[in-house]
Amino acid sequence: MDVSFLPQLDYLSSYYNESFASYKRHTNEYEKMLEWISDRFDAEITSKLLKKENEDGNVTLSVLGIGSGDGKLDVEMLIRLKKKFGTIECTVVEPSAERITSYKKLVQERKDALDGVTFDWRQITLQEFCKISFDRSNKFQFVCAMHSLYYIPKQELDYYIKTLFEWTEGIILMMHGTGRRDALAVFKESS
Ligand SMILES: C[S@@+](CC[C@H](N)C(=O)[O-])C[C@H]1O[C@@H](n2cnc3c(N)ncnc32)[C@H](O)[C@@H]1O
Repeated sequence: MDVSFLPQLDYLSSYYNESFASYKRHTNEYEKMLEWISDRFDAEITSKLLKKENEDGNVTLSVLGIGSGDGKLDVEMLIRLKKKFGTIECTVVEPSAERITSYKKLVQERKDALDGVTFDWRQITLQEFCKISFDRSNKFQFVCAMHSLYYIPKQELDYYIKTLFEWTEGIILMMHGTGRRDALAVFKESS
């Protein structure tokens, strides 16, 4: 479906928040996602991620969340991952200050279940994050981008998805509506 005629929805505006809240109210997708996390996430994701010891013998899982919003889905996934991995380092790339604040609040509320998870908050877009230099030999083991790649211009999307594949040694979970009332989940698995 060609949606290019639609006006751009500024993802930092309150109208965007209202639109996304309305979408969640009028579809059961959010509940379905929570159900999927509760019933299938461990079999599809957790069990397939390898435990790797770092130099001091600890097992730390490296996670990247892109456009994590208020973190409601990501936190449920982190809690499941936490049961297998002793410690998790989670980088959150989310351009909205308001949503980062909500995510931090949720982390505080669920702090017992998230004990051992550390967060690196980046209030920037994926495009900006890609420009930052960091040690790319330390790959992410789990990358999660749920409904967050819509604001990357169509002609650049391939480039950013390819970049995510290069940074990942594990699994990428991506959810992207296709406009045909369906959604696409892409996995990359490698050891
Ligand atoms: C539809 S919300 C999805 C939030 C969350 N992942 C979920 O499924 O509930 C899209 C999120 O992507 C963020 N976002 C928009 N453009 C982005 C970009 N270029 N890079 C990273 N995140 C972006 C928005 O701020 C927003 O929080």
